[in-house]
Amino acid sequence: MPRKIILNMDPGIDDAIALLMAANSTDLDILGVVSTAGNVDVDRATRNTLRILELAGRAEVPVYRGSSAPLIKDLVTSEEIHGRDGLGDSGLGDPSTRERGVYGPKFIVNALDTESNVTIVSTGPLTNIAVAFLYSPESFASLDQLVIMGGMYGLTGYSIGNVTPYSEYNIYVDPEAFMVLYRSGIDIKAVGLDVTQDPRTYLDRDLYNEIKNLNTHVARIVSMITRRVISERGFFELHDPITLSYIIDSGVLKFRSLYISVSLENGYSRGYIHVFKSRPPKRSEIGRVDAAYHIDAEKFIDILMDHISRR
Ligand code: RIB
Ligand code: CA
Repeated sequence: MPRKIILNMDPGIDDAIALLMAANSTDLDILGVVSTAGNVDVDRATRNTLRILELAGRAEVPVYRGSSAPLIKDLVTSEEIHGRDGLGDSGLGDPSTRERGVYGPKFIVNALDTESNVTIVSTGPLTNIAVAFLYSPESFASLDQLVIMGGMYGLTGYSIGNVTPYSEYNIYVDPEAFMVLYRSGIDIKAVGLDVTQDPRTYLDRDLYNEIKNLNTHVARIVSMITRRVISERGFFELHDPITLSYIIDSGVLKFRSLYISVSLENGYSRGYIHVFKSRPPKRSEIGRVDAAYHIDAEKFIDILMDHISRR
C-alpha cells in the first residue's frame, strides 16, 4: 500500500529534486503539495511546484498555495543559491496548470481530518504546518509522522549553520513555527545539517556527470536545474532529497531524541537551536525532536539514482 504523504516545499533546486523523486516513486501516494515562501517568494514557489509536477508527468497531483511570509519574522529568500527563478535560472518555463483554490494550511487540516496515517514531509520553512496546527490542533491526532528538513543539532562534524554559523535556513526563516510544532507534542523527525552536509552525499561534479549520462527525462531536468550551481560552486548539498529518501527507506538515517529550545531573537542567534545535555526543567519554550545523527550515504545515493533513472 503506497504511503500517503503531504509535501510542504519551497522549490528551490533541492526541493525540486525531492519532488521529482516523490513523483517517480511507486511507494508514495502524494495527497498534495503545499508551497511556502522560503528560497523564493510563494508565487514563484507555487509556479515551480506546478511546473516540476507537470514536467514529471504528474500534473494530476494537487498543489495548494501556502504562506507568503513567516509567522512573525520578515522573509529571507535564498535566490543567491537557487537563482532568481528558484530553479537554477534554468529557464524551465511556466506551468500550464494552476494551483487549487484552497489555502495550503486549510488543505493540510482537511486532509488530516479525512485521511488516516498521513506523513507530512516538510523541506521548507514550517509556517504552513504551524498555521494548520494552531487552527485545528485536534486534526493532528491522526498524523502518522512529521518529517522535516530543518535545524542543526551539533551531532556530527558537519554541524555548522548555513545562514549564520549557528542556524539552518528553514528554521532561521521561521523559528516561531518550529517552536509551535516542537512544543505541540507531535513526533518530529528532524533531518538537520548534521547529516545533510556530509560530503559523501553531495552532488559533486562526478555525480552530476553520472546523472547527466543517465539521459532519462527526469535526469535531464535534474542536470538542467543544477548546471549553474555546479559550474559556480562545484558541488550542491541535497538536503531535501535526503529527507525524502528517509520516507522511501527508513534505513537511510538514524535518529536521537533531544530536548531543545530555539532562539527567537532577531539578531545573530536567530534560529540557533540549544540542545540540552540532560532533562531540562519544564519550560514552555523547551520541547523534543528526534534529530538525525547518522546517514547511510551509499544507500541514499542508490535511492536518488534509482528514482531519477526510472524515466
Ligand atoms: O538549509 C537547507 C534548506 O533550506 C533546504 O530545504 C533548502 O531548500 C532551503 O529551503
Ligand atoms: Ca527547501
